[in-house]
Formats: sequence, structure tokens, C-alpha cells
Amino acid sequence: MKTLVIVSHPYPEQSKAIKTLEAAVKDLPQVTVRNLESLYGSNTSGFDVAAEQAAYEGVDRVVYMFPVHWFNLTPMLKAYLNEVWTYGWAFGPNGKALQGKEMLVVTTTGASEFTYSAAGLVQSTIEEVLTPMKASALYVGMQYGSPLAMYEAMNASDEQVSQFRQRLSEHLSTAIAA
Ligand SMILES: Cc1cc2nc3c(=O)[nH]c(=O)nc-3n(C[C@H](O)[C@H](O)[C@H](O)COP(=O)(O)O)c2cc1C
Repeated sequence: MKTLVIVSHPYPEQSKAIKTLEAAVKDLPQVTVRNLESLYGSNTSGFDVAAEQAAYEGVDRVVYMFPVHWFNLTPMLKAYLNEVWTYGWAFGPNGKALQGKEMLVVTTTGASEFTYSAAGLVQSTIEEVLTPMKASALYVGMQYGSPLAMYEAMNASDEQVSQFRQRLSEHLSTAIAA
């Protein structure tokens, strides 16, 4: 199963969790990683749209990997959707480039799993926080997989990151083998 992984983190030098997860998937078979800040810095209008769109060719599954910052996507990921998922390519009468592909969101949070529950402080699950990704996926005809969230990832211990990394690698390789 050919997989494209789009990674975004606005503060790469401060990242531990996302950086480790990116490194873990980078060498998996049939996986291509594109890190938006490595490619474009924080230039929200600097995308090579043709190259970004070409990266989806022949891909079965797309993973979007980013930290939750203020219960939202990162600025570069939001800009990427604006610039790369264009009318006539992703949607509109002839826009079928993403149809049938699977979307998997992999995210890290500072807050606990309980915080992301109906009874918790934000009264919203991670699935609810990620509604814009789900709605975007369904709008362009993608299949939306259940997101993988690594909670309490701020200053995560090596053991914690390693466990999540294992979970992610297993998830990706199981589906690749399927
Ligand atoms: C500017 C900023 C905003 C953040 N907002 C949230 C938030 O809304 N919810 C949350 O659970 N964690 C929040 N966090 C914590 C990050 O999600 C957490 O530190 C990150 O996912 C850990 O991954 P990393 O080591 O790759 O940065 C925020 C962190 C920063 C720096």
C-alpha cells in the first residue's frame, strides 16, 4: 500500500514527538515523507503546487502528521490545503485526484486523553477537534480512518514516544501488508 506522509510542525527545533514519529516512518517500505517546513519554511504561499499534487499519484493512503496547537491544524498544513487541494484537482467537476484514497491523521497533544473527553476540560474529543480534516477528506471523496492521537506528548519520555512509535509503525505496516 503506497503511502504519502505529510508532516508539519511550526517549531521543528522544539519538537520531540513529531520528529521521532517522522523518523520512524521515513524508512518504511512504500512510504514517502514530505515535511512542509523542511521544504518551505513557514512560507504559507511558497508551495510548489505541481510537485505537491504529483506526490499523490499512485498513492493509496495519505497520513497527515502534526501537533495540535490551539486545538487546530498547524498554519502550514492549513495553507497547504488552501493552496494544493485546488478546484479542478481535488474537487469540482473534474477534481477527482484524491477520490478513494484513505486519510489517516496522526497527531500529538499536550493535554491528556481525559481532557479530550465530554467530561474533560475542553468537552471535545480529539475526533471532534479534528473535524476539519474529516470534513475535508469526505468532501473530496477520501475515506477517513480513525485518527491516531498521542496524548500528553509535551516533554514526552523516551519510553512514551517509543511506545507510540511502535503503535504507528505497526498500524502502517499492517495496512501495508493487507
Ligand atoms: C503554541 C502551542 C500551542 C499548543 N496548543 C495545544 C492545544 O491546543 N492542545 C493540546 O493538547 N496541546 C497543545 N500544545 C502542546 C503540543 O501539542 C505538544 O507539546 C506537542 O504535540 C508535542 O509534540 P512535539 O514534541 O513534536 O512538539 C501546544 C503547544 C504549543 C507550542
